[in-house]
Amino acid sequence: MLVTNKELLLPAMQKGYAVGAFNIQNLESLLAVVEAAVEEKSPVIVAVTPSSIKYGGLAYLTKIVRTAAESAPVPMSLHLDHGKDFETVSKCVEAGFTSVMIDGSFLKFEENIALTKRVVDLAHAKGVSVEAELGRLAGVEESTVEEREAVLTDPDSAKEFVEQTGVDTLAVAIGTSHGAYKFKGEAKLDFERLRLIRERVNIPLVLHGASSVPQWIIQKAVKYGAELAGAKGIPEEHIKKAISLGISKINIDTDLRLAFTATIREVLSTKPKEFDPRKILGPAKEAMKEVVKSKMRLFGSSGKA
Ligand code: G3H
Ligand code: 13P
Ligand code: ZN
Repeated sequence: MLVTNKELLLPAMQKGYAVGAFNIQNLESLLAVVEAAVEEKSPVIVAVTPSSIKYGGLAYLTKIVRTAAESAPVPMSLHLDHGKDFETVSKCVEAGFTSVMIDGSFLKFEENIALTKRVVDLAHAKGVSVEAELGRLAGVEESTVEEREAVLTDPDSAKEFVEQTGVDTLAVAIGTSHGAYKFKGEAKLDFERLRLIRERVNIPLVLHGASSVPQWIIQKAVKYGAELAGAKGIPEEHIKKAISLGISKINIDTDLRLAFTATIREVLSTKPKEFDPRKILGPAKEAMKEVVKSKMRLFGSSGKA
């Protein structure tokens, strides 16, 4: 059944587990996420970015997700991930998304509040949940400790932001970043900052850039020709600790991409005579599904549907 992020995340916040938001781009990735949720009896957030909308088309993606939700015996939401402007958000609300993210993290504090508030007014009128982001996800390019800290979420500003916008969930920056290259040295997150934010903010908190970049997937991809030197993610113990400190939604994209493409490489290289797309994409979908299932167990959402 199709529900909002708020409906999925309030119980998670109260009971101390997290719901995964998994990015999909096509039928195979949607099937992987939904089949995993059904097998794990887990609530799930199906996340779609503006670039995936550009790739797959808003109407197609909305309809395949809503079709899956009609028959899936688990609660799921259709969520816009990293909506950057009001127009994109409105189109997704109109199309039938049940949750939207307005990412004003690149704006000044007051501008982020103003844009988020506008989105909250529009979305709440239609019963749609809103996620916003405060602070930026530091990349490896912010190499000094000072540079990395400067973009993290300030706990007092988070409290003010939530009060002024009426947003349903808040993405916080505590040291994660998007993609497969999150750290040059040791993986470090600012857990004390997360604790201070949780003390001040009483809505579900979201962790972006949470892929672990598992070595077994990297090794498989590299074995069959990928170049991924220096790839590094968030250790699973850090994810558990973040959940224990109050993270209720966890975004995963990179690990799914790695599992999918590593398997495509493996099939193409071990079965050179194969040219049926279903025999190439099918195993890739299964590999992605196994990763989603293992995330659901790690996040504690298995069995919570
Ligand atoms: O933040 C989400 C993604 O990992 C980036 O996704 O390449 O679909 O924009 P995208
Ligand atoms: P990863 O790149 O770590 O998978 O993060 C995905 C994400 O935050 C999507 O919004
Ligand atoms: Zn993100």
